[in-house]
Amino acid sequence: MKYSMILAGAATAVSAQTTYYAGAANVNNLTFQATINIDARKQYQKMLGGGCSGAFGAACATNSLSAADQNTVVETLFDENIGALSILRNLIGSSPGTTILPVCPATPDSVANYTFPTANNDSCQLTLAQNALKFNPDLYVYADAWSAPGCFKSSGVENGVGNGVICGVRRSNCTYDWREQYANYLIEYVRLYQARGVKVSLLGAYNEPDFNPITYSAMLSDGYQAYDFLSVFYPMVKKAFPSLSVSCCDSTGARQQRDLLYELGRVGGLNLFDVNTYHNYQSDIKEPFDDLLHGQPTLETEWSDGGSTWVSAWDVQGQNFEGFQWAIYMHNAFKNNVAGWSHWWCTWTQPTDASLVAVNGTSYQVSARLWAFAGYFRFARPGAMRLAATTSVMEVYVTAWENTNGTIAIPVINAAHYTYTLDMNLAGTNVTHVVAYLTDNTHNVTLTNETFSVSGGKFTAEIEPRSMKTFFLDCN
Ligand SMILES: *[C@@H]1O[C@H](CO)[C@@H](O)[C@H](O)[C@H]1NC(C)=O
Ligand SMILES: *[C@@H]1O[C@H](CO)[C@@H](O)[C@H](O)[C@H]1NC(C)=O
Ligand SMILES: *[C@@H]1O[C@H](CO)[C@@H](O)[C@H](O)[C@H]1NC(C)=O
Ligand SMILES: *[C@@H]1O[C@H](CO)[C@@H](O)[C@H](O)[C@H]1NC(C)=O
Ligand SMILES: *[C@@H]1O[C@H](CO)[C@@H](O)[C@H](O)[C@H]1NC(C)=O
Ligand SMILES: *[C@@H]1O[C@H](CO)[C@@H](O)[C@H](O)[C@H]1NC(C)=O
Ligand SMILES: *[C@@H]1O[C@H](CO)[C@@H](O)[C@H](O)[C@H]1NC(C)=O
Ligand SMILES: *[C@@H]1O[C@H](CO)[C@@H](O)[C@H](O)[C@H]1NC(C)=O
Ligand SMILES: *[C@@H]1O[C@H](CO)[C@@H](O)[C@H](O)[C@H]1NC(C)=O
Repeated sequence: MKYSMILAGAATAVSAQTTYYAGAANVNNLTFQATINIDARKQYQKMLGGGCSGAFGAACATNSLSAADQNTVVETLFDENIGALSILRNLIGSSPGTTILPVCPATPDSVANYTFPTANNDSCQLTLAQNALKFNPDLYVYADAWSAPGCFKSSGVENGVGNGVICGVRRSNCTYDWREQYANYLIEYVRLYQARGVKVSLLGAYNEPDFNPITYSAMLSDGYQAYDFLSVFYPMVKKAFPSLSVSCCDSTGARQQRDLLYELGRVGGLNLFDVNTYHNYQSDIKEPFDDLLHGQPTLETEWSDGGSTWVSAWDVQGQNFEGFQWAIYMHNAFKNNVAGWSHWWCTWTQPTDASLVAVNGTSYQVSARLWAFAGYFRFARPGAMRLAATTSVMEVYVTAWENTNGTIAIPVINAAHYTYTLDMNLAGTNVTHVVAYLTDNTHNVTLTNETFSVSGGKFTAEIEPRSMKTFFLDCN
């Protein structure tokens, strides 16, 4: 806003010199046509999916709703034909009442007495996971710790006093080395879930280890210290559950995660995790992580504005938590080889953009951010490969994905306030049949009544202003 005076001045100068623009494209004959080229022979990352979290009591937020509405909220989020989320990120609680280790063992050699947090079934997280599984039997549960038990850390507490590091890593200065016990504790959480019918697919020891707010459960780590822990943890996980993946390390931003990975790589730790996980808070992704990885997929595992407004709109103010903006954030992440995208909370009770669904007593509202998720994840299902896709104009964004059964999803976003005509060219696929799903201020991933004729790998389509339109192609 501080530049508005300068811009106003510039605008006056331009309008006084219209003849200067006589040779430029006349606004009256501008055309809105984009050429989109898809090549199914060139493939990039494999889709992991979209998700949200029930951490810190968020999973209990629906408890005030009727049983039918509680069910509908979970269905709206996780059903393949509605919100289409497939990732659920659980907090492995470290505070009293939520931890699986209520009593600290005297030494790392003492027996640890693990117990499932009975209060509300792990702060309703187990209940949410069980319900989400009804709507998505392939649910990808990511169990992630914000902190080790306090007594395992240099600070001695799980929350406060600088937050500390896990004892045993470099610069931890502790009496005991608690790394193996911490690894056991994390694996035990997976066992307790498995015993209750919920398979955990990804396990993490860190949440935002680069950040020290001291106001909630947290634990620090740089990349060197991550090496010291992961070199103990990774082999123990593989021994306990060969197919369980290990994450690293949920930094607060893509740049912060790059620094951590660089350090981990310097000490030879790039084979000590299976999924590269980062949050989108303090910096978003500007380039793929691939140069810092050994081929692992990347997941954005948490983001929201954390503020106290509830924005449910698709595109009204251009505010950055409207659904339309989220469609573009995800587009940018996918273009940078990110394989999946999680919102912060699934549900919450106060007005906040930290959740996809706002619950108010016996009623609830769904944010259009979920429709941005659905525009991708309903059609590019986990396992889909991203294909080469280019656009001839900057304000029309496109990615393309081939599902494991050969169907192709092409989510397109039109940032212009004009309808664009799209000339779609397809190579390396024999799909013949196209349908389109529209999301804008009055449609939520709605099947349109348009028909398209595919001929010689080409078809023409229109995309409405300020909308996301996902084309779904098969051979029917
Ligand atoms: C658009 O208008 C400008 C200015 O009148 C003209 O020079 C140009 O040839 C026009 N372009 C098309 C494609 O009609
Ligand atoms: C382990 O914890 C459970 C529940 O907290 C308790 O009932 C049990 O007595 C404990 N067992 C031992 C050996 O301390
Ligand atoms: C906890 O989960 C069990 C199933 O594992 C279920 O029977 C029970 O109703 C749940 N309790 C609460 C409070 O959600
Ligand atoms: C451990 O001691 C070193 C040297 O005094 C210090 O730099 C470092 O911050 C200490 N680490 C912790 C976690 O307190
Ligand atoms: C929640 O519902 C109450 C009662 O219907 C209403 O007065 C209040 O404004 C609502 N709060 C929000 C944040 O929508
Ligand atoms: C679309 O979803 C919003 C909530 O995000 C809801 O308020 C609206 O009624 C829905 N519109 C249609 C046409 O279903
Ligand atoms: C192919 O897979 C997609 C995504 O899972 C699904 O929506 C579609 O119905 C499947 N089509 C066929 C023909 O099996
Ligand atoms: C498309 O069909 C042609 C002719 O049947 C076939 O040779 C080719 O392998 C098919 N391509 C794909 C990607 O299925
Ligand atoms: C097709 O969709 C358009 C735009 O949504 C609508 O105006 C029109 O009435 C629909 N036509 C039919 C036959 O349903």
